[in-house]
Amino acid sequence: MSIPFLDLGAPYHELQPQIDAAVSRVLASGWYILGPEVEAFEAEWAQYCGVSHAVGLANGLDALTLALRALGIMPGDEVIVPSNTYIATWLAVSAVGATPVPVEPDPATHNIDPKRIEVAITSSTRVILPVHLYGQPADLDPILVIARRYGLFVVEDAAQAHGASYRGRRIGAHGDIVCWSFYPGKNLGAFGDAGAITTNDSDLAARVAILRNYGSRQKYINEEAGVNSRLDPVQAAILRVKLDVLDEWTARRRSIAALYAQGLAGTGLTLPQVPNWADPAWHLYVVRSLNRAGLQAHLTAAGIDTLIHYPIPPHMQNAYAGLGLAPHALPLARDLAAQVISLPMGPHLTTEQATRIVEVVVSCEQWEE
Ligand SMILES: Cc1ncc(COP(=O)(O)O)c(C=O)c1O
Repeated sequence: MSIPFLDLGAPYHELQPQIDAAVSRVLASGWYILGPEVEAFEAEWAQYCGVSHAVGLANGLDALTLALRALGIMPGDEVIVPSNTYIATWLAVSAVGATPVPVEPDPATHNIDPKRIEVAITSSTRVILPVHLYGQPADLDPILVIARRYGLFVVEDAAQAHGASYRGRRIGAHGDIVCWSFYPGKNLGAFGDAGAITTNDSDLAARVAILRNYGSRQKYINEEAGVNSRLDPVQAAILRVKLDVLDEWTARRRSIAALYAQGLAGTGLTLPQVPNWADPAWHLYVVRSLNRAGLQAHLTAAGIDTLIHYPIPPHMQNAYAGLGLAPHALPLARDLAAQVISLPMGPHLTTEQATRIVEVVVSCEQWEE
């Protein structure tokens, strides 16, 4: 049995009649930029997240960048980011000319450690930007307390956290602005690039909506130098279909995660730890191994695809050589990058496949010794 990391075609095959109908509806409407389909998705996504506004955008990186622009973040400002994240989080900070200031994770959760944030705050800090990495919610309450104490904004990178909850409340409405990616492999994925922000602040929502459309609210009247980052109505229509099944598909991810947790306990691998306040969306199931290369080779030999999220942390990328951070400046990010391995995870992974993966990992226990 060969098992792909993620079957990207499976969502279409499951939902083909509804998706074909949604795409045809947009094509027949003659409305191809913004318009009713985008507005309908924005309303439905805001409602799902329990927040008053959603603004559809072209991708998740733009969501982060425009969120920071809407808050007035500019060169000279510092934004606190996790050292352990996908590089897009940092790139958004760089895109507005501000400086990313990395803070190390809690190794138990892989997410930014709130206890380490305060020492990173300077007179230039404007924003704390936690990431809900792998769909595990970051510990938001202490972050919000610190932000209030120092007068900082909280922008969340929720690109991997559709449907996750923090202390019983869905991700999407805690911070000042929450940023979403609907990249195809995400838990709520389009069939191309797409993104959004959610916020309870109507001024911020309006500001992002202007920025995404050339800085214009009214055609040919440009209030500021914006960009073109509009959510495509075809993608919005597809996202509406997929939003209807998001909870069901998240439940499937949760049962795979439970099967892995039970089957892999006692293997010597470090498994994801879920604090009692977290209800993760299980975008990825990431384990840690001191012999990752051996484990990955063993799985590959058995026909099981795995991926590394992420092999090189941002501070060790050439893109950030200018910050002058040595690998050991952020040892937790460096070490996690050397140990993590993601097992196949997704709503179309069958129980039979997941059981097979457990069997193969367990048969590899010698690698851990
Ligand atoms: C944590 C995180 N932030 C930001 C992004 C950027 O999203 P996009 O690829 O839609 O630009 C991604 C995904 O690619 C991500 O995983």
